[in-house]
Amino acid sequence: MEQKATTFTDMELIEKITQLKKRKKAVLLAHFYQVPEIQDIADYVGDSLGLAQKAAQSNSEIILFAGVHFMAETAKILNPETKVLLPDLEAGCSLADSCPRDRFADFKAKYPGHIVISYINCTADIKTLSDLICTSGNAVQLVESFPKDQKIIFAPDKNLGGYINSITGRDMVLWDGTCEVHDILSTEAIVQMKIDNPDAKLVAHPECKAAVLELADFVGSTTAMLKFTMNDDSQKYIVATETGILHQMHKNSPDKEFLIVPTDETCSCNDCPYMKLNTLEKIYLSLQNEEPEILLDKEVMDKAKVPIVRMLDISKELGLI
Ligand code: 13P
Ligand code: SF4
Repeated sequence: MEQKATTFTDMELIEKITQLKKRKKAVLLAHFYQVPEIQDIADYVGDSLGLAQKAAQSNSEIILFAGVHFMAETAKILNPETKVLLPDLEAGCSLADSCPRDRFADFKAKYPGHIVISYINCTADIKTLSDLICTSGNAVQLVESFPKDQKIIFAPDKNLGGYINSITGRDMVLWDGTCEVHDILSTEAIVQMKIDNPDAKLVAHPECKAAVLELADFVGSTTAMLKFTMNDDSQKYIVATETGILHQMHKNSPDKEFLIVPTDETCSCNDCPYMKLNTLEKIYLSLQNEEPEILLDKEVMDKAKVPIVRMLDISKELGLI
């Protein structure tokens, strides 16, 4: 078990975080994959698209990001003058790590005439090499906003890219990266869950493998999956994504049943090890000490901002945000 640096109870930590947020004019943004107690004290909880939009609108003096590094980086890029804190700098992302700058620059050079659309789950360096950023909440529509014959490199998630290719009939060149949390979800386990629960619908995140997505009744971002389960008339869902989303699903549809697709037989969970590095205690310490802070080179921020702002502008034009 992780050693606590303070002796405060969760209730005391929540009280202290609330006071510090007020006193320091800080906003706490949290992703759906955070633990329930963090989601419940956040000023905003959402998917990557919603979080980027909230970060863009922020006029707080401090943004505390309960999520992973690329999300906090995006917030910093959109608010270069604001102090952006990430409670644990080790909260990375296997997908972002799968796409190092130099290798991607070489890859890009092999495809002249292609534009680069990158999933927001990438480093600021990759964003500087991209023409447009997308999230799982707008990827299909953003790709479709280009003419059919537009040549496109899609990075870094080959599962999301393959999914977009399959439903748009495009042939985007894909970087070979995956999310270690979604890519391991087994088709066999899902088929068995469907057999055991014939009345359940399968909702899946597009970071899952193609074989899983083909079995799904609904594919979408965390926000889209949440909305689907709220508006759909089924009573039971098999959920192929990270465990954290179940908190909002239960909260919004208390009478429905949600079964997470587990990574193995030993637990009914599928946790992102990076997302789950954040704790109430780390959030408290981060707000109190105003560290660890996200610091980026100005030139990198200026360049990376262009495709992110473009994403937000097109999403607004398309009525997606
Ligand atoms: P969304 O927030 O777009 O649903 O993506 C999930 C994810 O993997 C974030 O890291
Ligand atoms: Fe990265 Fe996957 Fe974790 Fe999201 S769930 S932060 S894509 S490793």
